[in-house]
Parts: sequence; structure tokens; C-alpha cells
Amino acid sequence: MKQSPPPQTQQQARQYYRRHGVRIKSPEEIEGVRKAGELVLELLALAESMMQPGRMTGEVDQAIADYTASKGAISACLNYRGYPKHSCISINEVVCHGIPGDRILQDGDLVNVDVTPIVDGYYADASKTFLIGRASEEAVRLVEITRECLRRGMWAVKPGATLGDIGWAIQSYAEAQHCSVVRDFVGHGTGIEFHEPPQVTHFGRRHSGLKLIPGIVFTIEPMINLGRADTKILDDGWTAVTRDGSLSAQFEHTVVVTEDGFESLTPYEPEFYLSRPVSEPTLA
Ligand code: MF3
Ligand code: CO
Ligand code: CO
Repeated sequence: MKQSPPPQTQQQARQYYRRHGVRIKSPEEIEGVRKAGELVLELLALAESMMQPGRMTGEVDQAIADYTASKGAISACLNYRGYPKHSCISINEVVCHGIPGDRILQDGDLVNVDVTPIVDGYYADASKTFLIGRASEEAVRLVEITRECLRRGMWAVKPGATLGDIGWAIQSYAEAQHCSVVRDFVGHGTGIEFHEPPQVTHFGRRHSGLKLIPGIVFTIEPMINLGRADTKILDDGWTAVTRDGSLSAQFEHTVVVTEDGFESLTPYEPEFYLSRPVSEPTLA
């Protein structure tokens, strides 16, 4: 028998939907996203195994497409507003939405792979940044800072906290490290559709914005630049790059607000996100 949530919670869920368009997920729906998240982990591991110099990004995308199909799933990216591929592969100064193609991975490249499979109608969305071969010290540093931004964002998630708390946790850390937070792209609700309300900015003020309650499912996906935050879109209509040409990295998990905090539904690198950030960030 299905357990139904207490009436108080049902009323709150209706209110979140009416006022904010935010769909509070049932335990069954969360389980559906968790299942899709299992495929996300397999896809990211597959991509990681192909992160070698000489590989074409189109080959990596094809492997993601084939594996997704072999599991009876489909990629949410394909045909999304006309997007032509199954994944996004964003290299160096590409902030996000890089289209896989004939670009060949080279020693020193910083490469984000972003996947969103749909499994039995449920969406899970995550991405990870890899370094190819010997990368520069600054690339290594940016990747570590961005990973830490995601961890701090996730640890801000708990009932009673706000979206602004998440943004602040990310922004204050990134800026203390003299990096910038991309403002032109944000995290988002997900699960039943690819992109649902709310928008999850990676900058913000503490105690501001939507208050989190259990059952909200959304991504946190900070894009952090070594230089300035400004971006522009290339002529292909998708590829977003830093305006100043500086390196950009990104990590993304899909998370659910639980009774006492958060759970990642795309739990790659669990040892990392399960441990609390070491110290509170300080703004320089
Ligand atoms: N996965 C991306 C996100 O994190 C969205 C990609 S949309 C696409 O929201 F069309 F470019 F695939
Ligand atoms: Co996303
Ligand atoms: Co994504």
C-alpha cells in the first residue's frame, strides 16, 4: 500500500505548486528519479573511460547514445529545443552546452560532460569535469574550486533553508578564491520534466528566495570561471563561452530535499559529497 503524506504536507505541496509552479515529489517519484540517476552514474563512468587524448567528442556522445538506448532509456537533450546531440561536452572556455562533434580531445583539456537520461518518464541531470592528461596548475585549481562549490551548495540544502542560502554558499566560496560565478545559466527543478521551476542561481543572499521543503528535486550546477563571469553564445546557437576566453568548469548533481538535509539522486563521487565542507567560507 502506498503511504500518503500527512494532510499538512499535502496542503503545502499544493501551495508550492500554485504559488511557485514547484512540484513536490512523492516518494514514488523520487524513486523514479533515483533510478534515472543510476543510469547517469553509468554514463558518466563510460564518458570518463573515454577521456583520453585523440578521442573525438562525437565518439563520446555516440557511446552515451548507444548505452542509453541499450538500457531502454532516451536522452532528454536530443531534440530539446532543437539540440542535435545526446550530451553536452564543454571544453576549456566553453561554459556549457558544447555540442559534441569532430573536436579531438587534447592533452591539458578541461572537459565537462553533461547527461540527462529519461528512465520510465523520470529525468536525472548531472555533469562532471575531467582533465585530459597533464593539465595546467590553474586548470586543476579551477576544477577543485568548482567541485567544492557544488559540495558547499549541496550542504546548504535542508528544510527551512532558502535557495539564496545555496547561491550564497557557492558565490562566497568562489569569489574568495578569486573566481567568478556564471549568472547566465542556472540550476533548475527537474524529475518530471527536464527543466521545471524553481530556478536555482549559483549566487545569492542568505535567507532570500524560496524556502526549501522536503520533496523538492532540483539541480545544483555551478559554472565557475577563472576570469570574468560574462558569457556569449556562438553562432551554432548553443555553445556558451566565456567572453574573456578564460577557463570555465562545472559540476552538477540532482538533489532532493529530505527531512533533515539533502540526498543526491546522482551520487557520483559519494565520498566527496557525503563529507561536510571543511570550514565556513570567508569572503576575501
Ligand atoms: N543538461 C543541461 C542542464 O544542466 C541542459 C542541456 S540542454 C541541451 O540543464 F539541449 F543543451 F542539451
Ligand atoms: Co541541469
Ligand atoms: Co545538465
